[in-house]
Amino acid sequence: TRKVTTHRFVEMKQRGEKISMLTSYDYTTASIVDGAGVDGILVGDSASNVMVGNGTTLPMTVEQMIYHAKSVVNGVKRALVVCDMPFGSYQVDRKEGVKNAIKIMKESGCDALKLEGGAEIIDTVKGILDAGIPVMGHLGLTPQSINKFGTYAVRAKDDAEAEKLLADARLLDEAGCFSVVLEKVPAALASRVSKELTVPTIGIGAGAGTDGQILVVADMLGMTKGFNPRFLRRYADLNTVMTDAIGQYVTDVKDSTFPNENESY
Ligand code: KIV
Ligand code: NA
Repeated sequence: TRKVTTHRFVEMKQRGEKISMLTSYDYTTASIVDGAGVDGILVGDSASNVMVGNGTTLPMTVEQMIYHAKSVVNGVKRALVVCDMPFGSYQVDRKEGVKNAIKIMKESGCDALKLEGGAEIIDTVKGILDAGIPVMGHLGLTPQSINKFGTYAVRAKDDAEAEKLLADARLLDEAGCFSVVLEKVPAALASRVSKELTVPTIGIGAGAGTDGQILVVADMLGMTKGFNPRFLRRYADLNTVMTDAIGQYVTDVKDSTFPNENESY
């Protein structure tokens, strides 16, 4: 199995082949996700919500992202592994952003980094690219700025914000990013951006016109409950599968039917 590269992402767009991505935060899940044939795995800072139970992605640290990314890298043979730079690790200035980017690459072994934002961080994005690190952009709903937005509602519904998003996407493309995530924006806008960019767009809640799709793995497997945005398709009900299995285990222990003779030494 040949490892997927950032160049393959761009080739897939040129060929018109859609790109499939999911998140992962640990070795065991990443092994399954990679084995199932996904093209790219994002070690998202959504680990804050999914793995830790925080209300936002803001608390994640560089050290925590490295821990998750290293765990994922250990389980992956084929997929491109992209790691989110956490809030605060690249917003201060270019020098600090490049330093943290190099640290995450060195200590996790991941293939690329993702940063939220456009014009505001373009200088830092260029610095990271200059260091030889592939960068994925992220526009639209950018959860690290939730305290500025005040809501997780659909972004760029008005013309001014749509024009800013398009301009930001062009900036990231011209700077040399290999891909751009578009989160929770109108499908028509995401299609327009996807047609204009030379590099692939990866959508989440951005309609079918993007060059690829990404979902949070725990959400699409139905492990999480109570998070039901319209863009989320649940491919399994692991919450029920796990609850039933664990309930059966509890019963078997109480009944003394586990372990049996074959399960004993
Ligand atoms: O952290 C995350 O999971 C993400 C994706 C939803 C794009 O950034
Ligand atoms: Na993220």
